[in-house]
Amino acid sequence: MNILIINASPRRDGCVSQMLGLVRKEGEARGAEVTVVRVADLQVRSCIGCMQCRSRQECVLPYDDARKVLAMINEADAVIVGTPCYWGNIPGSLKVLFDRIVYGMMGESRRGMPLPLHKGKRAAFIATCSTPWPFNILFRQSRGAVKALREIFKWSGFKIVATVEKGGTKSRPSLTGGDCHACRKIVERLMK
Ligand SMILES: Cc1cc2nc3c(=O)[nH]c(=O)nc-3n(C[C@H](O)[C@H](O)[C@H](O)COP(=O)(O)O)c2cc1C
Repeated sequence: MNILIINASPRRDGCVSQMLGLVRKEGEARGAEVTVVRVADLQVRSCIGCMQCRSRQECVLPYDDARKVLAMINEADAVIVGTPCYWGNIPGSLKVLFDRIVYGMMGESRRGMPLPLHKGKRAAFIATCSTPWPFNILFRQSRGAVKALREIFKWSGFKIVATVEKGGTKSRPSLTGGDCHACRKIVERLMK
């Protein structure tokens, strides 16, 4: 099985990176081929909204890392996105990446209805934020980031098999036993 991990945290040793590190280890231990992409390492221009990708099936902008990531998503059987919550949402850099590859994630019928292009694949999300539990859920902080990812992956045809939200990262920046267990569970569900 080919698993792609997309890490949207710019912090190499932050919570998201630690959790994705566990996911990677677990996936490899179970025999998966795991590829990791750090969004902070990518060069991706913003979408210019021309909509030409809808008819051309490719972006008019010069080749950059957005297309590289789309090729990786096409190759993957499962995708795990780990993201910090910024302003109750995903970081802008991650949003820009998915804006640029919309044509390769979700097609459109003549009437403008969505056509999912990744049916049969699985996805899982990890989101962290400083707002402590249960307010990270109630005030839609990490929950807001997960909701944004659901929107992208649902319309792209992925089955979302697991989500993990870790609140209160300011007062508890290190991973608990429960966090580690949740990361292992994600891989179990993705590889079922
Ligand atoms: C620009 C920015 C915006 C943020 N916005 C929120 C927010 O809306 N809600 C929240 O609870 N935490 C917010 N945070 C805190 C991060 O979500 C939190 O520190 C997270 O755990 C970082 O994960 P990382 O260390 O893995 O990168 C924000 C942090 C930054 C840098």
